[in-house]
Amino acid sequence: MSIRVGLIGAGVMGADHARILSREIPGVALQSVCDADIARARAIAEATGALHAGADPWAVIADKSVDAVVIASPDDTHAPLAKACIEAGKPVLCEKPLSQSASECLDLIAAEVKAGRRLVQIGFMRRFDPAYVEMKQTFARGVVGPALMMHNFHRNVCAPSNFTGQMAITNSAPHEFDIARFVLDADYQSITVFRPEFRDAGKAGAPVFMVLKTLGGQLVNVEINNNAAYGYDVRGELVGEKGSVFLRSPVHSEIHVNLQTITTYPADWRPRFAEAYRLQNSAWANAIATGKPVGASAWDGYAASLTAEAGVASLASGTAAKIALVAKPALY
Ligand SMILES: NC(=O)c1ccc[n+]([C@@H]2O[C@H](COP(=O)([O-])OP(=O)(O)OC[C@H]3O[C@@H](n4cnc5c(N)ncnc54)[C@H](O)[C@@H]3O)[C@@H](O)[C@H]2O)c1
Repeated sequence: MSIRVGLIGAGVMGADHARILSREIPGVALQSVCDADIARARAIAEATGALHAGADPWAVIADKSVDAVVIASPDDTHAPLAKACIEAGKPVLCEKPLSQSASECLDLIAAEVKAGRRLVQIGFMRRFDPAYVEMKQTFARGVVGPALMMHNFHRNVCAPSNFTGQMAITNSAPHEFDIARFVLDADYQSITVFRPEFRDAGKAGAPVFMVLKTLGGQLVNVEINNNAAYGYDVRGELVGEKGSVFLRSPVHSEIHVNLQTITTYPADWRPRFAEAYRLQNSAWANAIATGKPVGASAWDGYAASLTAEAGVASLASGTAAKIALVAKPALY
């Protein structure tokens, strides 16, 4: 029996989920595609062979022919829709961020604790990226010794059209907050946000530079530059007392011409993390089949949202902001 999935949000990310779920994950059937723009829902349903197209996300969650849900609608819809999935007893793969409000995350966590089982997986797909997985495993084996620092760079060609003010911190940076926390296996105690001089400071996606401190005293720096112009580029380096692990992005060829070596950058995140998305969605389907949750939990979504919230406060105050998680429920 296939797992019948309902997809909510069929924009750039949702269309990619629809393609992956319908073509690349055995044991999954894309049952329905929902988008506020019904024409878009119909187009993606037709392209992927989904049975139904609609515009009402609540109807997808209530639909008895839907076993599990993927949420890829805008950020502010994630927590209410994911909470409704919990209440309907349906596993949900919810795109990041879980919410832009830590207290909304706690509300959802309370619902999941009440349900007594983990139903929410957050779309922090970097946890499945082979390069980050190797970095984490190398560190865990002690090859580079105790961790001192982790450097993270997140660069986009230009800020997405729907970007506003602080979304570099609340929308982009949660990936780095989560992956550094995952690789180091450490929670944060503080964050300080800096902004370089930028000719067009009012432009959506103005760059930010952040320094976080873990509870163990390691330093994590994060550059978010959504108007980097030259390409989509994610870099990372974990520095330990005995060496370092540097992230390599997949490059399949290089061109040698005119006394130069040329490699290319992707235009966005999809080619860079194609394997991570596929492995994430495959692991999610497998977790539903086996009843053994994997990947980032609602708790991890809360940790990232709390960090982002502190980051926004630090940007406003110009000083370090404290990060203090509430006590972790036994479910996580
Ligand atoms: N994991 C990742 O690497 C990654 C990458 C990109 C985007 N995302 C996340 O995915 C989400 C979508 O991003 P995107 O780039 O695809 O945006 P997008 O604007 O391309 O797509 C969003 C879609 O949701 C639809 N929509 C809006 N409100 C809706 C509602 N209430 N119900 C159903 N559909 C609704 C819109 O019509 C649109 O088609 C965002 O939350 C973003 O943070 C994650």
